[in-house]
Amino acid sequence: MKQQLEEIKKRALQALDDASSPNALEELRVKLLGKKGELTAVLKQMGKLSAEERPVMGQLANSVRAAIEARLEERKSAIHAAALEAKLAAEAIDVTIPGEPVSLGKQHPMNQVLQEAKEIFIGMGYTVVDGPEIELADYNFTRLNIEEGHPSRDRSDTFYFDDDDKVLLRTQTSPMQIRVMEKMQPPIRIVAPGRVYRKDEADATHSPMFHQIEGLVVDEGITMGDLKGALETLVKRLYGEDAVVRFRPHHFPFTEPSCEVDMQCFKCRGTGDVGGQVCSTCHGEGWIELLGAGMVHPDVLEGCGIDSAKYSGFAFGIGVERMAMGRLRINDLRLIFDNDVRFLQQF
Ligand code: PHE
Repeated sequence: MKQQLEEIKKRALQALDDASSPNALEELRVKLLGKKGELTAVLKQMGKLSAEERPVMGQLANSVRAAIEARLEERKSAIHAAALEAKLAAEAIDVTIPGEPVSLGKQHPMNQVLQEAKEIFIGMGYTVVDGPEIELADYNFTRLNIEEGHPSRDRSDTFYFDDDDKVLLRTQTSPMQIRVMEKMQPPIRIVAPGRVYRKDEADATHSPMFHQIEGLVVDEGITMGDLKGALETLVKRLYGEDAVVRFRPHHFPFTEPSCEVDMQCFKCRGTGDVGGQVCSTCHGEGWIELLGAGMVHPDVLEGCGIDSAKYSGFAFGIGVERMAMGRLRINDLRLIFDNDVRFLQQF
């Protein structure tokens, strides 16, 4: 039996030394020390021994058990330490490697100019409001005095969602005039910036999606002089005191009288000619159309429940991209939408 115990001890210690994972150790523990383990099997035979031999063998068995247990603990911590070391090595971070530069984005140049314009209007006491890009034909056209059959309602100009031409992508921010007047009574002084959509071919000054800022002021005694003052203030703040603009008579169904405001082309300085070539920015016109405006038509006021005998108002719709082109000296509107970082980084 002594030999048996010694044999068990020798094999056990060797097996423990060979084990390399916590699982293998646990299997060995059960096999060596468990109820059905080898050591227990030997101890069960103790009854067969003589009275003198029994304590001697008992002591030996205990010391074998103790030796196995001690080695088991040793191996456990050694394996644990090795695993930790391997993990630390695998996850090591070299803090001395230089970091990758993170390039920070910034506001799009068109939004920078839009922000400037908003601030100018807020400074004049306007409130900024927002409205839907998916609009009813009723708001986009009908209630703005634009009758059925008017060319701007044509399917070749407007993106409709339905077959009976009732829901569309707004072609102008002017429906915001109706939405505001429906809810508010004068005094009204708002601007409503946002996207608008038209079936236009993209060129240096056109895009099927662009931005407008609608403006609306309604109060007692508002005149065309107030309109001119507000727009001149905007233009001079944006482009400087010496900016050249012109007011030109025009027609809109929802304003009367109406006008358009142009700025002198910054590329050809109004000559329409760049080095003997027709100026591509203004198509040789010498002027770039910036906005449409006018006195709110009395029928439009009345349609929204505002007494046109007591109140009058003006409205305008500014092309934001056109405005940004002049402000940032960009000669092709498509650059604003291309999202080429080499272009965007310049502002
Ligand atoms: N909505 C008009 C356009 O898109 C501009 C405009 C706005 C004209 C307000 C008059 C008053 O052309």
